[in-house]
Amino acid sequence: FHVTWDADAAEKGGYDHFMMKEIHEQPKGLYETLMRRLNDDNTIKLDGITMTKADIESFNKVYIVACGTAYHAGLVGKAAIEKMARIPVEVDIASEFRYRDPFVDDKTLFIAISQSGETLDTLAALREAKRKGARILSVVNVVGSSVARESDDVFYTWAGPEIAVASTKAYTTQLMCMYLIALYMGHTKGVIDQDYYNRFIEELKQIPDKLEELLKKEKDVEAIAKKYCRKEQVFFIGRGVDSGVSYEGSLKLKEISYINSFAIAAGELKHGTIALIEEGTLVFALATQDFLFEKMLSNIQEIKARGANVVGIAKEGNREIEKQSSEVIYIPSCMDEVTPLLSVVPLQLFAYYVAKFRGCNIDKPKNLAKSVTVE
Ligand code: AGP
Repeated sequence: FHVTWDADAAEKGGYDHFMMKEIHEQPKGLYETLMRRLNDDNTIKLDGITMTKADIESFNKVYIVACGTAYHAGLVGKAAIEKMARIPVEVDIASEFRYRDPFVDDKTLFIAISQSGETLDTLAALREAKRKGARILSVVNVVGSSVARESDDVFYTWAGPEIAVASTKAYTTQLMCMYLIALYMGHTKGVIDQDYYNRFIEELKQIPDKLEELLKKEKDVEAIAKKYCRKEQVFFIGRGVDSGVSYEGSLKLKEISYINSFAIAAGELKHGTIALIEEGTLVFALATQDFLFEKMLSNIQEIKARGANVVGIAKEGNREIEKQSSEVIYIPSCMDEVTPLLSVVPLQLFAYYVAKFRGCNIDKPKNLAKSVTVE
């Protein structure tokens, strides 16, 4: 009886690639990132971070600054912090922020998001904000990383080591951290409705199980990827937080399958980009926001009329979208604000399987590094 021990396979938890292992580690990562911060009475402890009511009231501006996937997490974080903490938020790409002499003072909260904590652009932006007097809070996945060390406060994603170049579990746990920061600030400041706060916390607690449920649809997504893996151009559209998730879905596909993919806010299509939609163009239409669902349906009708193949992403129960879509991937129902924790997963799986069918190197895409420590 001879066991051949494939260390590489063991390292990948039996999955073919680290990326798929890490996609499946998301329920656990989200559970860890959330439950370590919840007290029994559903109040939030931001680890060792002390942000008093006076501190929070003193902020008149929040910057969220990051690169790539972390930047996309910031787009969702903006919506959460503005809605729950009632402070204006500007999300900026680190390589832009650091060179535009931004307005920053001691009433600015600067949030750096970085999986590695070593991205040079993000570190440089942090240093610029610090020099100008901002309070620095960083959301990182690597304990003791440069970004963590140079921040006033650090809030860790408990995703575990992320090996694949294409970030997946770091993104969803970054989202979880943004929700917790927004809830904490709103609650401490006393500007968040208590029922809404409690409902939000309960919704977050249900996400890991809902994500496990959603991951059971992996083979359905694989079939869609098989059907469309030869496409040379793919669009991702959405409104509200769905537009932020569209950017993330597009980046996943670009960086591991090298397909020219493109994300745009759905409402922006008619201002020119719709000219690119023609017979057979593949469009992922994210329509998870109840209050924007009708608007998204009309966007989908417009692109269907031009011959697009539409893959809809919607909450279970919104079957209206099927009339306008070639395929629909349903996510478990949840409140609008937290759908990004789920809607990104079919897009991660789609990118993975398209890259696999195209024979690409999924964990180590060409010319890409896991952490960009150069300018
Ligand atoms: C994401 O899949 C990419 N690997 C890349 O965009 C990454 O998100 C970006 O380089 C930021 O890295 P960081 O989170 O380690 O700062």
